[in-house]
Amino acid sequence: MSSHVPRELRLGTAVAHYRGGHSTAAYAILGHPIAHSLSPTMQQAAFRACHLDAVYLPFDVPRELLPECVKDVRDEARLRGCNVTVPLKEDFVPHLDEQDATTRLTGAVNTVRIDRTTTPARLVGYNTDAAGLVAALDEKEASIRGATVVVVGAGGAARAAVAAVLQAGAAELRVLNRTPAKARQMLAAVLQNWSGPVPRHVCASLSAGDLLRDATLLLQCTSIPFHEPDASPVSLQHASSGLFVFDMVYGTRPTALLREARQRGLRRADGRGMLVHQGAAAFRIWTGLEPPLGLMVRSVENELARRTH
Ligand code: ATR
Repeated sequence: MSSHVPRELRLGTAVAHYRGGHSTAAYAILGHPIAHSLSPTMQQAAFRACHLDAVYLPFDVPRELLPECVKDVRDEARLRGCNVTVPLKEDFVPHLDEQDATTRLTGAVNTVRIDRTTTPARLVGYNTDAAGLVAALDEKEASIRGATVVVVGAGGAARAAVAAVLQAGAAELRVLNRTPAKARQMLAAVLQNWSGPVPRHVCASLSAGDLLRDATLLLQCTSIPFHEPDASPVSLQHASSGLFVFDMVYGTRPTALLREARQRGLRRADGRGMLVHQGAAAFRIWTGLEPPLGLMVRSVENELARRTH
């Protein structure tokens, strides 16, 4: 094995430093901002546990700089794959040579495999967010199958939730959003690429809290907790005791929605399970190995605990 020395990897104007040998494989996460992503800690722990000579590096890439970054993603031989996160998940799609069904359904990619058996290399896109959500909910025994699901939000995160709702076979779908017209547009766009069974569905405003009355699963997909930590998009006053509340957001403290769910004695979870399962699926795609799930969970828990103190 070649000696591990300080090295530099550039993608467009973004740069990362690492210690590695000539044959060390590199994986990247592209986003903006990216400094607080938990993926590097989680994926690096997984590589280490599987004795892979690989590094996972964060790259801060503003939207307008994505095209030149993608050029280097294709040409940089050390790079074997990347994750794509906010705000680039939709912007990256036109650069793909191939895309999986969930990327088509959501119009968003979060995992890219780089096939270097051809010249130029081929960028193969996957969306593991929807499957990550399904797996995180299954783990909490809050399965989408047969559920009456309320999705709150109409942006990229909500698209992944709607894809999961369709793929996992919910009985009914209700999309609530500040701007109901955006919810209708988003739902129509996803359904246009879906050929499977379509559950009964409706779109409404955030004030339609009575739609929570007989719902069994609530998926919070707005960006409100990022901007206003003490604000909640919907009130749980009409929720039945059987409602499971899932907030895609995760952090060092529970969101206002999850705090209300706790006060009302409702089952609940934040987005860290989805983070781990989407990452585990990406690891499987890149390496063909079974991801060390327990260790990935622990690395995320430890990192969040470290940031709390
Ligand atoms: P992402 O891709 O992360 O989902 P996005 O596409 O910007 O982000 O979508 C943000 C979502 O949060 C939208 O559903 C947005 O509602 P609108 O469609 O009405 O814009 C919702 N959102 C953001 N800030 C909000 C606020 N202060 N109150 C209510 N909804 C908010």
